[in-house]
Amino acid sequence: MDIKVYKMPTEIIMGRGASEKVGEKVKELNVKKAFIVTDKGVVNAGLLNGIIESLKKENIEYVLFDEVESDPGIDMIERATEIAKKSGCEITIGVGGGSSMDSAKAVAAMVTNEGKIFDYIGIGKIKRPALPIIAIPTTAGTGSEATYWSVLTDKKTKFKTGVGSWYLMPTVAIVDPLLTKSLPPKVTAITGMDALTHALESYVCKATQPISEALALHSMKLIARSLRKAVANGDDLDAREDMIMASTIAALAFNVTRLGLAHALASPLGAHFNIPHGLANAIVLPHVMEFNVMAVPEKFTEIAVIFEENITGLSRMEAGMKAVEAIKKLMRDIGIVEGLKDFGVKEEDLKPIAEEAYTSGNVAVNPRKSTVDDLIKILRKAMDGLK
Ligand SMILES: [Fe+2]
Repeated sequence: MDIKVYKMPTEIIMGRGASEKVGEKVKELNVKKAFIVTDKGVVNAGLLNGIIESLKKENIEYVLFDEVESDPGIDMIERATEIAKKSGCEITIGVGGGSSMDSAKAVAAMVTNEGKIFDYIGIGKIKRPALPIIAIPTTAGTGSEATYWSVLTDKKTKFKTGVGSWYLMPTVAIVDPLLTKSLPPKVTAITGMDALTHALESYVCKATQPISEALALHSMKLIARSLRKAVANGDDLDAREDMIMASTIAALAFNVTRLGLAHALASPLGAHFNIPHGLANAIVLPHVMEFNVMAVPEKFTEIAVIFEENITGLSRMEAGMKAVEAIKKLMRDIGIVEGLKDFGVKEEDLKPIAEEAYTSGNVAVNPRKSTVDDLIKILRKAMDGLK
């Protein structure tokens, strides 16, 4: 093995009701004023109530910014940064899905750095440490609470990209399954598929390493055990707990490895066709897997076993292919049967999507080398979905 590094500076607090510890954590960090970054859906669902109570209990002042949009853009980040600076906030608290947490990270960085967030696209470009960040997910999928990425969209060019920096690692991640209890089945399914894609792509990718492999495998076990249950009955707190832990653990895996072709393709599909991120991943995932099996059949065999496929008497390739079947069965069960056509993608769109996807850093770590033509073929297979 080449020399690998596993680094994880974030303190992770987990468990039912953990989000009500936020006040204590802010106090520990010795700051007095917090900038809460969230969206109206989170506010209306009452998910901030316990968090705000906890801040008040510790006499922490706060400013609430609830204008986060899906696929955060530069204008919103600038608006939020302006308010955070003027009000003298010393910490950002992102509460929500990936968009809110990624916005909280971007604002924390832009309070202390010059220019615009898009000046820092890529890895390791941010010059100065950001404000401390607390990330509190309310979905079980993106894993942004445990990654150094802030995913942003240029609204003018519709280009979805990322700023990656160790300065964007949340200081504290608070993983509370109770916050996911009211997620509707479809959102549970879509975000759960994002978590699965993180674990799976990290596990099979070229940059994999022993620590990330262990994390990815455990994440997939939790998802195999509980994604169907969480979709079937949102009140099943054991399933909710498994899913939010699976999401955070998958992030702990992929933060050091990056991902693969599914995530490379999901970015342009999300940006140009408004396909929710987890759904875009899910739509292409079985086809990306099928393409990849021959590069690492033994790893796909392990995935097949985790998802309870019978591989007795099969060759390594046949056994690896069973993982593809397993994921298709899971997707059908949880109602993810859409294809790209359902979002208006046409044959002539496939080449530009593939070309844009090919610029992603996730292409280089995919286990099988690919060309733009390979990506076009994968997209073509994903046109009809699983109906
Ligand atoms: Fe993702």
